[in-house]
Amino acid sequence: MLNTGSCLPLWDVLKMENEVTTLMANYGRAELQFSRGDGAYLYTANEEQYLDALSGIAVCSLGHANPKVAAAIARQAKTLLHTSNLYRIELQENLSDRLTNIAGMENAFFCNSGAEANEAAIKIARKYGRTKGIEYPSVITMNGSFHGRTMATLSATGNPKVHQGFEPLVSGFKHVDYNDAKVVASGLEDPNCVAVMVEPIQGEGGVIVPNDNYLRDLRRLCDEKGALLILDEVQSGIGRTGEWFAYQHEKVLPDVATSAKALGNGVPIGACLARGIAATILSPGTHGSTFGGNPLACSAALAVLDVISEKKLLDRSRSLGDFLLTAFRKKFSKRHEILDVRGKGLMVGIELDRPCGELVKICSTHGVLINVAAGNVVRLLPPLIITDDQATEIVEKVSASIFNFLD
Ligand SMILES: Cc1ncc(COP(=O)(O)O)c(C=O)c1O
Repeated sequence: MLNTGSCLPLWDVLKMENEVTTLMANYGRAELQFSRGDGAYLYTANEEQYLDALSGIAVCSLGHANPKVAAAIARQAKTLLHTSNLYRIELQENLSDRLTNIAGMENAFFCNSGAEANEAAIKIARKYGRTKGIEYPSVITMNGSFHGRTMATLSATGNPKVHQGFEPLVSGFKHVDYNDAKVVASGLEDPNCVAVMVEPIQGEGGVIVPNDNYLRDLRRLCDEKGALLILDEVQSGIGRTGEWFAYQHEKVLPDVATSAKALGNGVPIGACLARGIAATILSPGTHGSTFGGNPLACSAALAVLDVISEKKLLDRSRSLGDFLLTAFRKKFSKRHEILDVRGKGLMVGIELDRPCGELVKICSTHGVLINVAAGNVVRLLPPLIITDDQATEIVEKVSASIFNFLD
């Protein structure tokens, strides 16, 4: 770890770190470093405690060092880590059964990240188009979206900052406004358009919750035109919003759903789930991943699904989310600088009337870890296992930090 000297604030040495380590400079990291975690708390080497209201960006939903997940990983590590997808993998088949069952889908492809899950979804859409005889199939995606950092997923992403410097982008994506079914309807008039890819709640875009019925309208439009509905549940899935998948709030089913982040509680795993015609597109040799769905990752994911079910964490996510929204709305009711408090389950955004990146540092000095999305939205993604007292601690510390920042 970099020696920061006694007078440099931890958060101000970011440039120095990039100058002195051999890491590529692609992250704007804080100097803060953790040496262990326990439930909703992270600890530095000096045992300074931080309440984690970010879960490693929606990953550690069961908290840190979850005993059941740790035991499953340890057991599997002593048995078999990896064989490759040249052979049957019972744990992968079990995980596919469990996931497709909770998601209402038919089959699964496993990979190692959200971007890879979305790559698989995009390949399914393209091949679906090609099998229909469309030479240049295109996919509608949304302004403000985030789908990953690979070339296809960054091209799908509706944020020019993510594109910048990486042109030429992968062709075949048409970006339209989020939460507006009419623009999707006109986009689908293009006969080359084979799919609509959308986050049920935009995460990186600033925790944008669309109107009720938005997904149902997209479902209807896709059905009318024979286009695939692809839902990117990488951030919103696996219980984050109070259902296994956020689309289940609207009782719609996509043709393709992608998952990653919380699926392994920190062990890298992604999944692309499909149903109907979309489930028939990939044939042997058309897609793959060396590590994807290996016994280690699948044993972790199976333990994650067990813990969420056993501890009824979908209900907890819903009730804790309602508690947070109500408590923050009350705290900020007289503050015109707070434009909105919104979210679903434990995916919560507090929108300010100004850029507020500094709040990450201010909150950390209050002992709570948060993140800022879209420049002016405090994003909270706490673990689903937080207690009522920890939820209150989040409200108190985050609102105190915001008042500090504003006053
Ligand atoms: C909605 C969404 N899709 C895809 C991704 C990319 O996931 P990964 O970083 O695991 O590739 C993210 C990551 O933040 C995301 O929020």
